[in-house]
Amino acid sequence: MAGRIPQHFIDDLIGRTDIVELIGSRVPLKKAGREFKACCPFHDEKSPSFWVSPDKQFYHCFGCGAHGTALGFLMNYDRLSFPEAVEELASRAGVEVPREGGADERAVDSHDALYELNARVAKHFAATLAADARAQAYVARRGLDAGTVARFQIGFATNSWNDVLRRFGTSATAVRALAGLGLVIEREGGEARDGERHYDRFRDRLMFPIRDARGRTIAFGGRVIGDGEPKYLNSPETALFHKGRELYGLYEVRQSRVKLVRLLVVEGYIDVVRLHQAGVRYAVATLGTATTPEHLKRIFRLVREVVFAFDGDRAGRAAAWRALQNSLPEVREGREIRFLFLPEGHDPDTLVAAEGADAFEARLGDALPLSEYLVRELATQADLAHADGRARFAELARPLIARVGPGVYRELLVARVAEAIRLPADRLAALWRDGGDSGSARGGAPRAALPTSARSASDTLRRHRRPGAAGRRSLVGQAVQALLHFPSAAATLDGALIASLSRVEEPGVAILRELLDELVRDPARSTAQILERWRERPEGAHLARLAADEALVTDAKAAGAEVATALARLAAGADKRRVEALLAKSAEGGLSNEEKQELQGLMAASGPRPQSVRPH
Ligand code: UTP
Ligand code: MN
Repeated sequence: MAGRIPQHFIDDLIGRTDIVELIGSRVPLKKAGREFKACCPFHDEKSPSFWVSPDKQFYHCFGCGAHGTALGFLMNYDRLSFPEAVEELASRAGVEVPREGGADERAVDSHDALYELNARVAKHFAATLAADARAQAYVARRGLDAGTVARFQIGFATNSWNDVLRRFGTSATAVRALAGLGLVIEREGGEARDGERHYDRFRDRLMFPIRDARGRTIAFGGRVIGDGEPKYLNSPETALFHKGRELYGLYEVRQSRVKLVRLLVVEGYIDVVRLHQAGVRYAVATLGTATTPEHLKRIFRLVREVVFAFDGDRAGRAAAWRALQNSLPEVREGREIRFLFLPEGHDPDTLVAAEGADAFEARLGDALPLSEYLVRELATQADLAHADGRARFAELARPLIARVGPGVYRELLVARVAEAIRLPADRLAALWRDGGDSGSARGGAPRAALPTSARSASDTLRRHRRPGAAGRRSLVGQAVQALLHFPSAAATLDGALIASLSRVEEPGVAILRELLDELVRDPARSTAQILERWRERPEGAHLARLAADEALVTDAKAAGAEVATALARLAAGADKRRVEALLAKSAEGGLSNEEKQELQGLMAASGPRPQSVRPH
């Protein structure tokens, strides 16, 4: 894997990108004052509510709430992952993306020739299909129409040991490249036959090019046209292809411009192709492997909801259970993972053919949520009718739930298990937390740590922000928002004023403090730069929402004044509460000398003394 992309590079990239130009090349923008507007590309509308701000380098739709930076736009509109969006901006800017940890970018460059070779071979397979009556008949029998064949660039590898080898292996270097891509295989012992030491991997097979998110062909899957073994043959792992990461059909999903809300993960190539043809344009397949956490990560970069569809047979159920186990590290609130079991004897291909897309999609609505599937599956392994069985159930559930990160979702899972075994949820949580008697002794492995109720700073920021009432936002929220809209305001603030924040204990103040420190140390030229710095943080999304809300101030000067006022009021509030606390303690007669001094200092600073106080 390539190393991380350094943050300073992203900062620069945002600095040199013009979001107006970027969005303008995809959506027709009209100038409106200092900003630009358009009909929103993310929802249907007749009059424009989509705004792009060159100052903030930020877009925002007042209709559907979509908002973000140039990178965010590419992720949502072009459906790219974050690193892909960075690559795209970088190539527009004509710069290379560096990687931390002395990574392999140069190696990636030298892959260009390999992508190019795969592309030429894919084209050749497609042309071969068009010219081969037997292959055409097979395609027709599978119910694939010409549009689908073209969209997926389906092709045919003719029944030959050296068609690809002779066409594309025109030099020793070219043969090495073909071998590296897994398109030809070296003969055992390296002996030559008819002067050739290699032979074609794919023979007499319908060919499915596997593309990466940018549409580059990275591998192939081939299905026998008659009966033969194996039914499907895939490219081996190569420099371009790591099958545990790739999802067949993802590029084609992105090509369809409908709003993507969920992905459907199925098992087969043909399933994906047939579903797309039927109008279920959000289907992808793993490539003859179990679903990996890596797959899940990719999926959740694009959507919040995934449905796995498995055949109803024993193999399908085993695959589903593996998918559940591999999903656990990626589940959390806000993400939805569900499981659909198809009727025995059917796969998505045959089912959508038998009952049509609408009926098939209706089934998706009934798919089992992960928590339900987990409970049902465990209930087949432990009999819930008896105490022994329920104890066993808990024992089976515990290591699974331990794989889920702490948070609301895990608490809900614990509660669901508790319900199944008829134990109060807090009792079960306490038992598990204390090591209990569940017997899942795992040596030195960390305990199945259980729900902490730690609330993240972002939660507090959100809770103290009343939606739609910008004017009533907390002082902290006001200051954060003003800084987001006008980052240059930070430079106008007095250092002592910023330092006074260390006395403040309001919700969200940690974020404000960090934001100010960052902006003083490293000024940002636009809202977008700040948001990119915070992208990976849990608070990032909340900052982006604050940035999308209308500003209360209209220029940097006013923003500076607003932040200064907010800081002063926060400090005054903190001091007032401290005085009250010290006075209360003093009334009980117990102030230390230090506290007396502190109180005097605070009172001197805060004007007229309350009557009741007589500092000694
Ligand atoms: P299936 O055996 O369920 O085939 O394999 P299918 O998708 O229904 O295909 P058709 O309808 O018979 O043409 C599902 C997936 O498992 C992988 C392939 O990715 C296939 O699409 N597989 C299957 C292999 O990699 N190798 C095999 O030999 C079989
Ligand atoms: Mn099938």
